[in-house]
Amino acid sequence: MLAGRRIVLGITGGVAAYKAAYLARRLVEHGAQVRVVMTRSATRFVGAQTLAAITGSHPVVELFDDDDVSPHTTLARWADSIVVAPATAATLSRLATGLSDDAVSATVLASTSPVVLAPAMHTEMWEQPATQRNIATLIADGYTIVGPDVGALAGGDEGVGRLADPDEIAESVAGVLPGGELSGQRVLVTAGGTREPIDPVRFIGNRSSGKMGNAIAVASARRGAAVTLVTTAPAPRHPRVEVIAVETAREMADAVWKAAEDADIALMAAAVADFAPEHPEATKLRRAAGPPQVVLGPTPDILGGLAAMEKRPFLVGFAAETGSIEAAIDKAREKGVDLLVANDVTALGSEFGSDTNEVVIVLPDGSTEPWELMTKSEVAERLLDRIEVLRSGGDTGGAPS
Ligand code: PMT
Repeated sequence: MLAGRRIVLGITGGVAAYKAAYLARRLVEHGAQVRVVMTRSATRFVGAQTLAAITGSHPVVELFDDDDVSPHTTLARWADSIVVAPATAATLSRLATGLSDDAVSATVLASTSPVVLAPAMHTEMWEQPATQRNIATLIADGYTIVGPDVGALAGGDEGVGRLADPDEIAESVAGVLPGGELSGQRVLVTAGGTREPIDPVRFIGNRSSGKMGNAIAVASARRGAAVTLVTTAPAPRHPRVEVIAVETAREMADAVWKAAEDADIALMAAAVADFAPEHPEATKLRRAAGPPQVVLGPTPDILGGLAAMEKRPFLVGFAAETGSIEAAIDKAREKGVDLLVANDVTALGSEFGSDTNEVVIVLPDGSTEPWELMTKSEVAERLLDRIEVLRSGGDTGGAPS
């Protein structure tokens, strides 16, 4: 997504400015052309020469230049996207009010390209109502904000205000650039394990971490899709991923069925409870009352509901099996999916919460394609490649089972 793209990196005057050098390097490594614009105060924290060496061109620091009558508009017109990292409280304030009195704010205001802002400052400055008002204004104006994170700050302080990880910032820049093979497509993903309440403090759940679904959501967004991620788990931050947080199978079903109405592809990686307590207690069950009788009833069949839709998205189900994936072959036929991803959650490297997975692709005719053990990100990428082939009417069969 970043290869060949023209990115302007704006650096403003905070201690985190030194990390901008690493961000510049990551953008260059991804194949982007990078030009830097810095405020004068940023040059007190990181040398312009360092950025010149990384990017191959000298940063713009002054609005008055002997060679270019208007360096800020030249940069703004050149850029496919602008990222300001770190963005100080003063810079956020300038951009929120349209003040363009330094090289960075003038370049941003002269641009019509998507802009990512990565704020970094002390916690007190971040939490000031004025800063929060500016952030709200900037979001409403269409800026993408990444971070800040919680962690160590300048002067030995701790708290919210730390610059987001440069790799995450680079991912956000890729996320705001138009294009990609799934551009214009809507992808719906589920992730995590549902929690079915027994009483206000206890639930029936499972060990899904959400990593498989998150990897699919990010891979789809990287390809340009508008992603809806319905999840019970901590979700990735990405400008093209809209997160709908749910807890129970019922809540997941409602969110998924609504989002599916205009989805092109749905990938159901969540581990959904098949049964839930029919009458969760309103108050905490007491030990003194003895072991409770918990009556379970079936939860909504989310995948079944999608398969029954008159105009349904391309449908990918997952099957978590234990010991063997044989049962998944029947599941692929019964569930009415276009493709089923089976994994044995008792196999080494494919457990819940692991960063890797060894899956078997099962097609509706029962044919199977075993894939080797790989990271969940690699599974996601290969899965999207496989889906594209199937959607375009290509190779629909693997080795017969
Ligand atoms: O989250 P991780 O820790 O990364 O682990 C990943 C994973 C093991 C959870 C994932 O790879 C996986 O296998 N997800 C599906 C788990 C599951 O619920 O499998 P199942 O065989 O019980 O269900 C089959 C399919 O029906 C699934 O797509 C499931 O989302 C769906 N389902 C299940 C029950 C229900 N009431 N409604 C459903 O739609």
